[in-house]
Amino acid sequence: MASKSRNQQSTNQAEPTAEPTVEPDTAPTEPQVFDDFGGCLDLALNLISASDEPGLALEFGVSTGRTLQAIAAAMPAGSRVLGFDSFQGLPENWREGFPAGMFRASPPEIPGTELVIGLYADTLPSWEPDEVDPAIALVHIDCDLYSSTKTVLEHVGLHLEPGCLIVFDEFHSYPGAERHEAKAWAEWIDETGTEFTVLARGPEQLLVRLGA
Ligand SMILES: C[S@@+](CC[C@H](N)C(=O)[O-])C[C@H]1O[C@@H](n2cnc3c(N)ncnc32)[C@H](O)[C@@H]1O
Repeated sequence: MASKSRNQQSTNQAEPTAEPTVEPDTAPTEPQVFDDFGGCLDLALNLISASDEPGLALEFGVSTGRTLQAIAAAMPAGSRVLGFDSFQGLPENWREGFPAGMFRASPPEIPGTELVIGLYADTLPSWEPDEVDPAIALVHIDCDLYSSTKTVLEHVGLHLEPGCLIVFDEFHSYPGAERHEAKAWAEWIDETGTEFTVLARGPEQLLVRLGA
């Protein structure tokens, strides 16, 4: 015989006299789902620009600067925007069709942004936000590889606070995705016990906000 559903099991309890009220601030919301590859980053930038709070925005994986330019254009006045890249392209083979060296580019000049040039393993151990910097509002992880994402989280994770938005550009839904950005994130969450909320998913992207 089929087991009873939770609703059926509750029928011998007192019937509620009114619809339960849910506080708007605590109502659970489903992650938004986007069909386009830019939806998660666009949502993160809309949330930050609507807040009008200056913040520190960090991009890992700049290449030609297409997304760094979008970030710089959206951040509220008083923000600081940093792009981290070796500009030598991927340091290792990634998924099929994306060999080491892919995305090599000349460092772009984008007004309102600063570049930190070098491999993350070389630049991040000595990097930290300046004392006068606002809190980190956005981290855009577009460096594709497990090893790169692992290094980013290991060093930058120390400076992340609840409320920070993190966009992963290549998190899921391609062959081998579980061995790259997603794996580094899962390990960091296991190690630190950090709470987070998934705000949105794109075809391969994920947007999370730190905090419950
Ligand atoms: C997919 S591209 C970034 C695309 C970019 N956001 C855009 O809008 O064109 C990935 C970039 O990550 C950089 N990258 C990956 N791993 C790195 C590492 N460990 N250190 C430095 N740069 C790295 C590569 O050089 C490459 O430029």
